[in-house]
Order: sequence, then C-alpha cells, then structure tokens
Amino acid sequence: MKWWHEAVFYQIYPRSFFDANGDGVGDIEGIRTQLDYLTWLGVDALWISPIFPSPMADFGYDVSDYCNVDPVFGTLEDFDRLLSEAHDRGLRVILDWVPNHTSQEHPWFRDARSSQDSEHRDWYIWRDARSDGSLPNNWLSSWNNEPDWTFDEGSGQYYLHCFLPEQPDLNWANVRVREAMADTLRFWLDRGIDGFRMDVIHLVGKDPDLPNDPDDLLFVGHVPLNDVPVTHDYLRELRRVLEEYPDDRMSVGEVYLLDPEAVATYYGDQDELDLSFNFLSLLTPWRAEAWRDLITRTENAHLNVDAWPTWVLSNHDNQRVASRLGGDPVKIRSSAILLLTLRGTPFMYQGEELGLLNGEIPEDRVVDPGSRDGCRTPMPWTSDYPHGWWGEPWLPFAADSVGYSVETQIDDDESYLHFFRSVLALRRSQPALRRGTFENLNVESHVLRFDRCAGGDVVSVWVNFGREACAIDMQGRSILLRSGGAIDEALLAPGEAVVVA
Ligand code: GLC
Repeated sequence: MKWWHEAVFYQIYPRSFFDANGDGVGDIEGIRTQLDYLTWLGVDALWISPIFPSPMADFGYDVSDYCNVDPVFGTLEDFDRLLSEAHDRGLRVILDWVPNHTSQEHPWFRDARSSQDSEHRDWYIWRDARSDGSLPNNWLSSWNNEPDWTFDEGSGQYYLHCFLPEQPDLNWANVRVREAMADTLRFWLDRGIDGFRMDVIHLVGKDPDLPNDPDDLLFVGHVPLNDVPVTHDYLRELRRVLEEYPDDRMSVGEVYLLDPEAVATYYGDQDELDLSFNFLSLLTPWRAEAWRDLITRTENAHLNVDAWPTWVLSNHDNQRVASRLGGDPVKIRSSAILLLTLRGTPFMYQGEELGLLNGEIPEDRVVDPGSRDGCRTPMPWTSDYPHGWWGEPWLPFAADSVGYSVETQIDDDESYLHFFRSVLALRRSQPALRRGTFENLNVESHVLRFDRCAGGDVVSVWVNFGREACAIDMQGRSILLRSGGAIDEALLAPGEAVVVA
C-alpha cells in the first residue's frame, strides 16, 4: 500500500477557497492560512485545481504557461511556502495538470497558428474541411453540442478543441509534445509536489483517423467516447516520469468514461495511473439497488486488474451532493459515511464538510461557459457577511451562508462539520476502513450493508436508503457512529447510516 491508497483527498477550488489579498478571488496565500483548518478537519492530501497562468476562459483549465503561477493566485514563492508548510503538517499536495489542451494564448499555439509551416504547427490537431466543405468530423462538445472544430482564418485550417475554442487540443502523437509536457511535470516534481490530478487524461490519445462518432451517440458529446489504445502508451511514459523521483509521487486521472470496467483499464498493469476517478457515483440515484450495482461493478472491475478504486460525490463540475440529496440532513451525513467507508480512496470537495448546497446564480452573475458556477460558490468562513471575504466575491454565496459557515458550525457539536470530522477520525482509527477488504455486500428492504475486514477486525456499515425505519442485527457489537438521531439502538431511521464494530 502506498500513501494515496489510505489518504483522504480534499479538493480545493482556489478561486473560491480563501482570499488573502482582498481582490475577491481566492489565492495560494489563502490556502496557506487555512492549513490549520484542514489538519483540524482530518484530511490527508490536498488537490488544488489549476493555479497556472491562464486567460481564465475555463477558469484555469486553459493554461498559457504550465511552469508558473497566475498572478491572481500569487507567485511561485507563495506556492513553495504553501507546499513546505503543508508538508510540515503532514499534508500532501497534488496539482491539477491539464495535458489534453492548452489555452489559445499559450506560446505554442500562438506559434502554431502563425502559419502552416510554423515550428509548433504539428503540436496541435489541424485538418482541412472535407471535400464537400463540411467539418473534418462530427465530434461535438459535451458542454454545448457545438462542433469541436474552429476554422483559423489566418492559417486556413480547422483546429480541434474538445472543449471551448479557447482550448485547442494538443497533438500527443507528436513526441515533442509528450517530451515538453513531461518537462512540465518535472518542473513541479523538482519543487517537491506529491503528484498530479490529470485532467481528462483519457482524451490525450486520439485515433489518428479521427473517425466520426456514431450518430446515435452524438447527444453525449465526444469526450466520454474517446477511449483509444495509444493513450495507454502515453500513460506508461508519464508513469516513468513520476518514477524518476523518490518519495512515491502519484497520479490520479480524470478518466471521464462513465464505465467502471473501462476506467479500471487505465491503471494498466500497475504501470499507468496510480488512481483513476470513477464518475458514475456522481450520477447514481440515492437508491439501495443503484448503489449496490455501482459498488459491485466497481469492486469487480478493479479487483480483476488489482487496481484500487476511488470514490467521489462532489467536485467543481457537478451539482453538490447535498443538493442532489434535496438538502436532507440525515442523508447528507449518510453520504459522508458511504464516501468514507467504501473500499478505495475518497475525494471530497471543499464545502462538502459543511453540507453546502449548490448556489443559485442570478443571470447577471453567471461566468462559467459550462453552467457550473452553482457548485463553485465561495466558502463561507465567518457567520457575518461577507463571510471572511473582503466584500462581494467573484461568485455569489450559496443560500444561508450564515448557517452553513465554518464559524457557525464549529460552535455546534451537532453540525455537518463536526460530523464529517468524526467520520474522518473514525476512518483514521480503523485500519479495516482504510485498507480492509470489502465483503458481504447485500441489500434488503432498501437497506444496503457491507463489511470491511482487516487483521481479524470487522467493521460493518448499514445505509438505509428507504423511508421506513429498519431493525439491524449488530450481533452483539456496538455502534461507532450514526448519521441520524437514534430512535432505538438497533433501529435504523429512514435515511440513516451506521458504522458498527
Ligand atoms: C475537466 C475539468 C473541467 C474542465 C475540463 C476541460 O473535465 O474538471 O473543469 O472544464 O476538464 O479542461
């Protein structure tokens, strides 16, 4: 087992975490000043969404320089200080590396589009129109169903972009691109970073023929359909870059394939990704059978290839789990138990520990081209407006930021924040929950149960997805933690989850 198998990761979306310099946007200094909060909470590793120079067409996922820090977030020195103070506290830090595309403002793309003979032309993916004048293929963006091609007037060809036109796709078939991108990893590895979250990593390989997507799948957009063998060669190369360094540097890939069997192939033969996201959990309804099926598929797919799963309920691209659960306090607490007791590495998202809901964004405050502002609202730190910020931040706060604020919840032992902290502490104290095997998954009358087992210890989890209270057989053991108010020791309230040992 490596450190990332047992760690709980906490995703920081830096624009909305904490603003140290008063410009309305969170920054690296802001993260540094909240490190004590994160260690108090009890997480082990931080994933920081992109901090690199960027025109912010996609809020940092359009990088114009992979080896620097955007001034809105601070400086390289700020970053070095954050990393060293995080390490002093035993917190690991991984960065969000965006290899599939650059910003159109990246010097490589500026040169590439300058002429068809430019040095960097082949670093991107250029095509002529088809003979009938139509676009090079039928790929559509997952965001807005607009074509994945934009015509560059200046140089007379189309370029491919699986996201915004401002995010041209790099041509990973070009070995110089792969070498240059490997060097961007080394830049941060040399500074001591513990690893990378690799953005849409399954997209980097492309079938060189760029074949049309099947007509009946066009409604899903191209991104979740791109799954080609050559990507695995590139992942093996990237793994070797990480292995040039001591101290177990890691990768977690965003493999947006919505299919646990396909996701598991991205671990290769222990020679590709160390971990991969498995996003069906974000789309699985809160029903016992649906979760049983997802867990079974995930367990089987990963066990087959000796891969370690990951679990996620919220991130900066999706509606927050608390909103998906209709704001129900018992279910929200139960979701924390589920996330932190399944076999695998959990990734939680800033604000999840507060039970934070998605924000309603008034039309004149919408900034994201992908309509994801609602899950990116600023962390409410203090109870009084502006909640630890300096005035109105770049996005509005979600509803009831007084009640959901860290300050209000810290003073209330019954809050989401204290509950989350208890689940994290329980996980830390129980080897079976961190690294145990997964056994005896079963659903009966809308109640899902499973065991985690290590060294003779058995920790059992029950989650009641139904609307009726339900008796459980604890076999003489006792409850370590429960998400609802106990009606009776051995009776699980509707929506409630318990951990028993
Ligand atoms: C990933 C990121 C998302 C971004 C996209 C394009 O899906 O999570 O935020 O917009 O890649 O880089």
